Amino acid sequence: MIEVVSDAEAVSLAAAQRVVDAAQRAIAQRGHFSIALSGGSTPKRLYQHLASDAFRDQIDWSNVSIFFGDERSVAPDHEEANYRMACEAMLDQLPLSSGQIHRMQGELSDLDQAAANYAEALRQLPEKNGLPQFDLVLLGMGDDGHTASLFPGTTALTEQDKTVVALDVPQLNTRRITLSYPVINNACQVMLLVAGENKAARLEEVLVSAPAGRYPVQGVMPQGELIWLLDQGAATQLPEAMLA
Ligand code: 6PG
Repeated sequence: MIEVVSDAEAVSLAAAQRVVDAAQRAIAQRGHFSIALSGGSTPKRLYQHLASDAFRDQIDWSNVSIFFGDERSVAPDHEEANYRMACEAMLDQLPLSSGQIHRMQGELSDLDQAAANYAEALRQLPEKNGLPQFDLVLLGMGDDGHTASLFPGTTALTEQDKTVVALDVPQLNTRRITLSYPVINNACQVMLLVAGENKAARLEEVLVSAPAGRYPVQGVMPQGELIWLLDQGAATQLPEAMLA
C-alpha cells in the first residue's frame, strides 16, 4: 500500500506511529518484536520521535530486538556509521540492554566475516520458510534506486542463499554489508520511507514506468505487508489512481 503525507516530518511521525502499532501487535501476539533499522535522514527523525516522550512509553522495549539493514565499512563510532546515528537519535535514550542491540561489524577488515557473523546473529529470530523472519524492516530509497546497501549492478542483488552479504560498491568506491533480498522479503512487514521532490522522478520509474528489475528497490516484494510511506514531494509524479 501507499500512504502519502504532507512532508518529511509527517513521514517520520506517521512511521513512528506505524512502528508503535507493529511493535504492540507483535508483542501481543508473539511476546516479542524485531526490527531492522535503516540509515538516512528521514529514519533519523523517526528514531528521534520513537525516543521522545510522545512515543517512548508506548512500546515495551524489554521485548524488542534491534537489528540493522545495512552498514558502512567503518567503526561503530564513525560519523557515517548507521549504528552511531541510531544510537544518537534513539538507542542511547531507550531502556535497552546491549544484548538487545545487534550491530553489523563494519570495522572488521574481513567484511565477509562480519556478514557471516551477522547471519549467525539473525538465527535468534523466529524462522519462516527456513529463513529468519523480522517483524518489521525499515528501508529507504536512494537517488539511484538502491535500498539498504543493495546497489545497482552489485553482486548482492543475485544473492539467493546468504541472509547477509558484504559487497563492493564500485560507484562509491567502498564496501558495505547488507541484508539480502531473501531475508528482507521474508519479513512480516517492510516500510519504505521516501521524502523529497528530488526522489519523485525515480519513484515514478520504480513504481510505474521502469521494467521490473531496473532498480534494486523494485526487488523488495515481501510475503508480508509492503508500505510505501511518502511525502507529497516524492509522490508528485505518481498517477492519481495509485494514491486513491
Ligand atoms: C543507508 C541506507 C540507504 C538509505 C537510502 C535513502 O545506509 O544509507 O540504508 O539505503 O535508506 O540511501 O536515504 P535517505 O532516506 O536519506 O534519502
